[in-house]
Parts: sequence; structure tokens; C-alpha cells
Amino acid sequence: MPPRLVSDKHEIKRIRTYINGLDENIQGGLPEGHIALVSGAAGTMKSSLTFNILYHEAVNGNNGLYISLEQSAESLVNHMLNMDFDFTKVNLVIIKDLADLASKLQSISRGKGSLFIVDIGCIRKEIRDINTDNNKSWLNVIKNVIKKVSVEANTKLFVMDSLSALYVLSRFENPRIELFMIFEFLRDLNITSYLISEMPLDGSKFSEYEIEDFLSDAIIVIKLTPFRRQVVREISVVKMRTTACNNDIFSLEFKNGQFYALYGGQNPLL
Ligand SMILES: Nc1ncnc2c1ncn2[C@@H]1O[C@H](COP(=O)(O)OP(=O)(O)OP(=O)(O)O)[C@@H](O)[C@H]1O
Ligand SMILES: [Mg+2]
Repeated sequence: MPPRLVSDKHEIKRIRTYINGLDENIQGGLPEGHIALVSGAAGTMKSSLTFNILYHEAVNGNNGLYISLEQSAESLVNHMLNMDFDFTKVNLVIIKDLADLASKLQSISRGKGSLFIVDIGCIRKEIRDINTDNNKSWLNVIKNVIKKVSVEANTKLFVMDSLSALYVLSRFENPRIELFMIFEFLRDLNITSYLISEMPLDGSKFSEYEIEDFLSDAIIVIKLTPFRRQVVREISVVKMRTTACNNDIFSLEFKNGQFYALYGGQNPLL
């Protein structure tokens, strides 16, 4: 169901980014149903940051879907364990075989929120008979997974890790039309989405075709910036529709199991 018109701005529900210091600067978080681009170079913590959102929402009882196209579910979960995430607080459901999807969706426990990780890399190895010459096949597999998890498990949060890997898998012939259709598909499901965009270190653009920038409701950028003899991660919200947001550049830190956005607009070491 597409978003409805609100009569008061306080009716706009928001999903926290769970980055301390940032939510306060974006009216509390990303408006529900928005599609956000999370753009950054390798190692900027794009996966950790989006996973962190789904994790905290699941702790609060809300289901989330994380589709990983290249990083295996084990590698992702080990990374999160190393960052001290407590997986006893959520119902972690790893899907490595599409044949298990229906039964796994039916058996989810009530109470704890579920965090579904769909390991597409693993599914790719399993399914050899899928016609890889037909670039529509994988996109359809992924869309079906999103729709099923969204409708059957009442899941309203979604991470695609990454859009860049999807492009390799799907080889778009007409990106402008195909991307528009993907965004419309997500909007019709009214699922709040974080699409990870792997971008070059120089930060010259936010997305592959640059149409994504216009189609997205929000763009969150993470950069690695050399500072004296250190490299710091920096985060900024380039745009966020329906939100009075502070576009300053903040330092991004992960300490004691939490993300922090610090020194917005200021030099951290002065
Ligand atoms: N416990 C930790 N505390 C702080 N940072 C950590 C911790 N564990 C790992 N990291 C950092 O997280 C980074 C990787 O995070 P993540 O995988 O989320 O990045 P990414 O942007 O998704 O990377 P990629 O482009 O490879 O997918 C590593 O470079 C590492 O330095
Ligand atoms: Mg990643």
C-alpha cells in the first residue's frame, strides 16, 4: 500500500538510524516507507550500519529483511558478533535455500522480532539451472523474496547489500526504466528500504547511474577521510525528503556497541 497523506507532521512515523547524534539532527530518523541510498567506499561500514538498524528494530519486535548478494551470511554474522551484537535478543533466520523460505516464514516465533538474512551468493551456487543469460531472472528471484517476506512475515524494513552487486547480476539494458520499476516495486510494498551503493573512494558520485540519486528519498554518504596520520569515517545526510535535516559532515564512530555521529560541522581535533 503506498503511503497515505497525513494531516499533521507528527503523524509521520520515522525509523531511527540508531546513530547517536544523527537521529537528533534528522527529526528522529528516516520517514517510514522511504527508500534511502547508503553510499560509500569499501570498508566504510555500510553493511554494519544498515544491519545495526535492522537489529535494533528486531530487538523492538519489528521484522527486517537483509539481502546479501556477495558477502556470505556467515561472514556477515561473524562480523556483527565481533562487534558485540547479542543475537539472543532477536530471532535470526538465515535463508540459504529458497526451498526453505516458506517453512522458515511459517515457523517464526512470536514475541521477538525476526531478522531474515537471505544469502543470495549461496543460492546462486545452489541454483544452477536458472537461466543466467536472461538478466530478468535474478531480479525476479530477488523481488519474489522481498514480496514474500514482506507480505507473509509482515516485514517493513529492507536492506539490499548491495545495489552494485545487483547490477552485476542483472545487467540492466535500460537502467532508467528498470531502476524506476524497482523503486516503484518497493514503494508499492511500502517497505522502508536501505539500498547500499558501493562507490569509489574519491566520492565523485553516489550511485552507479546517478538516476538512483533522484529516485531515492534519502541519500546517506559515508567517506573515509585522511586526517593527519589517521583515517576517519565521516557521515552526512545529503538529502532526506520530508525532513528538516542537518547536512553537516559528522565523524562516524563505533564504540561500545553503538554508532555515534560526532562534531557535526566542526573540526574534531581543534
Ligand atoms: N568491533 C569493531 N569496532 C569497530 N569497527 C570495526 C569492528 N569490527 C570491524 N570494524 C570495521 O568495520 C569495517 C567493515 O565494516 P563493513 O563490512 O560494515 O563495511 P562495508 O562498508 O560494508 O564494507 P564492504 O564495502 O567491504 O562491504 C572494517 O574495515 C573494520 O575496520
Ligand atoms: Mg558491506
